[in-house]
Amino acid sequence: MCGIVGFVGREEAAPILLEGLSRLEYRGYDSAGLAIWGAQDGLQVVKAKGRLQVLSDLTQGGATLHGSIGLGHTRWATHGEPSDVNSHPQVSERGRFAVVHNGIVENYMEIREFLQNQGITFVSQTDTEVVAQLLDYLYEGDLLDAVAKMLHRIRGAYAFGIICADCPDKLVAVRKDSPLILGHGEGFQMLASDVTAVIKYTREVTYLDNDELAVVTPDGVQVYDAYLQPVEKEQHHVDWEISAAEKGGYEHFMAKEIMEQPEAFRKTVFPRIRDGQVALDDLHFEKDYLEQLDKIYIIACGSSYHVGMVAKYNFEKLLRKPVEVALASEFRYSEPIVTGHTLALVISQSGETIDTLTAMREAKRLGARALAIVNVVGSTIAREADDVLYTWAGPEIAVATTKAYSTQMAVTYLIALYFAQMMGTISPEEYAAIVSELLLIPTKLETILAQSQDIQYYASLYFNHPSIFFIGRNIDYAVGMEGSLKLKEISYIHSEAYAAGELKHGTISLIEPGTLVVALASCRAVFEKEMSNVVEVKSRGADVIALTTEDLAGETAKTVDHTIAIPTTHPMLLPSLDVVPLQLFAYYVALQRGCDIDKPRNLAKSVTVE
Ligand code: AGP
Repeated sequence: MCGIVGFVGREEAAPILLEGLSRLEYRGYDSAGLAIWGAQDGLQVVKAKGRLQVLSDLTQGGATLHGSIGLGHTRWATHGEPSDVNSHPQVSERGRFAVVHNGIVENYMEIREFLQNQGITFVSQTDTEVVAQLLDYLYEGDLLDAVAKMLHRIRGAYAFGIICADCPDKLVAVRKDSPLILGHGEGFQMLASDVTAVIKYTREVTYLDNDELAVVTPDGVQVYDAYLQPVEKEQHHVDWEISAAEKGGYEHFMAKEIMEQPEAFRKTVFPRIRDGQVALDDLHFEKDYLEQLDKIYIIACGSSYHVGMVAKYNFEKLLRKPVEVALASEFRYSEPIVTGHTLALVISQSGETIDTLTAMREAKRLGARALAIVNVVGSTIAREADDVLYTWAGPEIAVATTKAYSTQMAVTYLIALYFAQMMGTISPEEYAAIVSELLLIPTKLETILAQSQDIQYYASLYFNHPSIFFIGRNIDYAVGMEGSLKLKEISYIHSEAYAAGELKHGTISLIEPGTLVVALASCRAVFEKEMSNVVEVKSRGADVIALTTEDLAGETAKTVDHTIAIPTTHPMLLPSLDVVPLQLFAYYVALQRGCDIDKPRNLAKSVTVE
């Protein structure tokens, strides 16, 4: 999704903005631009379709633009194709306002027509140009007044950075449903879509809330609410190192993040286990509340949804409560059955996914209590949920999630154990067995990662296959969904995940000699059934890679072409181990195909439009 950076201080702004934008590249974009105001040159705007490097070349790394106040933007096209003219900043016809925007202005068409009837000419197809033109139309010498009037006229989701050539000592930042943070330094202030863009310059940040507006000058920031009443905001200190958002010698962020999983799992789980007990100090659930739950609704998108699919099996088993897993984008529009006894478990790496955020708001409106599992500290979902458990995965830069998925999964185990113990639905023996296995997962992950060359070999055999199936039963099926998504998003190979028993109800017609089927066969309880399905595809000519546990590997080897064996663990925890070979397989296949692994085409890291 679009990335915004703003700087106001005493140094040249353009190089700082380019550096900030480079930190936001991971979000996904197709064009980039800068607007700088300087005393000599006034408002200077340079923008270009393509990678940030194009913009950097055009401006000689920012050296051709002079001024210490400015805005930068990476655009992920929504309204209008990726092109120079549709790139941001968008500038008003009179050249007074430059605007960068993340989000969608839903009523932009009617405003555009209104402004055209006033004689204003538009040059782009964007909803953002409407905002720049509207600001200029409404401006009567008072910047804040114009911004407030503009905000009353537009509908939608947005984060804006605004620069006005008449007030060149300040930037205005506004947000509603799209993220925006402020960074504070000595003699300079910044604004950005996320912390990674400012961390090189400052660790002191403020998270803007919905409908807040900030006036940003070199010496400070004043935040206002929607009625232009001043708001006192708390500053936060960011404590992760900038190296956490760098490749550290790896060719891709994805490779680094796959390798970081043992450590991320440790950081997420170990401090929350004390004396063999799951200690979730941030949660305050009562036994009565849990016993009266009518349903747990898990709400998420993409890989986070796949975590929810696994959690459903584990929660239902341990808690004996009905669990429904909803795609967040469907939830709001499906008249969900939610009561005051429903717990909404919301899962999101970014904490900003608009579908998940709006679904959580709807669940809360209907009476649910929202418990969120989030990676990005201070994100909107984290702040709006009733309870939050952070995954301590650190910044995840690759678009394809790996360590966030793994740590989200880890948190669902902790919740399941914590609730089950409180409700008395788990025996002390089983509880102790799961907890002790949980503590072994990082070492077992390291064992799997140490064998990545085997998976690289399988990738070299199959990277040219046009279509790959993942089959499994029970939680193996849920993990197969994640394996399939990983492969699709970074290698562009068509892939489907199928419940193995469902194949023969239609999809098996697609299996022909040479089709690759990755069969997840790690659940002992359904192993024989799964192997029957493997035989079905084998006998139709499929090549099969089985993913199973060490103790079952001898069995699969009799039937399949290749076996990947993971260490054994408690059945509930298998997904944490199963997923890693699938991540590696997707990674190596994409590498063989020469794909842009960290920034796959058409995708964005944080999806802030519906
Ligand atoms: C996963 O690799 C994807 N990039 C995507 O499916 C992602 O999980 C989804 O967009 C949800 O994001 P969130 O966890 O930040 O809400």
